[in-house]
Amino acid sequence: MKRNLLSILDLSVTDLERLMADAARLKAERAEGCCPPLLAGRSLAMIFEKPSTRTRVSFEVGMFELGGHPLYLNQSDTQLRRGEAIADTARVLSRYVSAVMIRAYSHRTIEEFAEYATVPVINGLSDREHPCQLLADIFTIRERFGRTDGLIAAWVGDGNNVCNSLILAAGLTGMEVRVATPAAYAPDPAIVERGRAEGGRIVCAKTPEEAIAGADVIFTDTWVSMGTESEEKARQQAFAGYCIDDRLVALASDGAIVMHCLPAHRGEEITDAVLDGPRSAVWDEAENRLHVQKAVLVNLLSTFDEHSFQQMLG
Ligand code: CP
Ligand code: NVA
Repeated sequence: MKRNLLSILDLSVTDLERLMADAARLKAERAEGCCPPLLAGRSLAMIFEKPSTRTRVSFEVGMFELGGHPLYLNQSDTQLRRGEAIADTARVLSRYVSAVMIRAYSHRTIEEFAEYATVPVINGLSDREHPCQLLADIFTIRERFGRTDGLIAAWVGDGNNVCNSLILAAGLTGMEVRVATPAAYAPDPAIVERGRAEGGRIVCAKTPEEAIAGADVIFTDTWVSMGTESEEKARQQAFAGYCIDDRLVALASDGAIVMHCLPAHRGEEITDAVLDGPRSAVWDEAENRLHVQKAVLVNLLSTFDEHSFQQMLG
């Protein structure tokens, strides 16, 4: 594993397989009431510039279950609010904790933090990507289908951070990724190009119907991501016709599942009937954040420790 998880592209196929296997083992062990204290004595700092329910709670509980200590650092309660430099914060936190997870508005903030940190840094959502979400999504798809390779994934909605990670992961997962967005909300062409350069099959569909026809997995997300609230009205108009409802789901393959990273805006990007219906995999998807992130923490910290141990030995 690389030291940091800033992008889904930081993972090789071998890393992904390892994470999926470890997450499955941790999930099964937890179901039997067994939580090995693999990270006893370690701490994880979690910096949040934006709100969170799942990411915060799953990392916090994950660290606790692994015997470690999570620290929730709301940006406004730290000296970051008063202008302390990201680089200085990274240098100092690295002297205290074993790893740092950051949720930031700008991806550049997370990259800068990682440049100056000397411990593993995990992207807990930026304007560019949500790699931890994608890992939980891949795990959930594998639970349902036993594989991702050869499946068709349809993204319908905003070409946002989660969509970017899905596109970038296409080569890694072997899923064909079809993206349907209003023209003004298409994913960055550089992301699509990079996804293709990484071996992904990415199709830019003209309509939600075209994307979903025969798909195995339907993805959507809010039309109004954190930081875009001032555009809410314009976005709601632009996304008319992009709501995942029973009519659209009926176009997918038999046995197709519906995914949403949550929080959902019921009645906007997805109907109650779909979110609460038999095709919905969203509650497992949310739960799997916990198991997969525990695997991420264990693997990043053990790889990193191995490196530092080797460095210490010269
Ligand atoms: N899916 C996700 O990251 O949710 P939160 O914003 O609640 O963390
Ligand atoms: N696209 C959403 C994801 C929230 C987990 C946002 O950025 O707000």
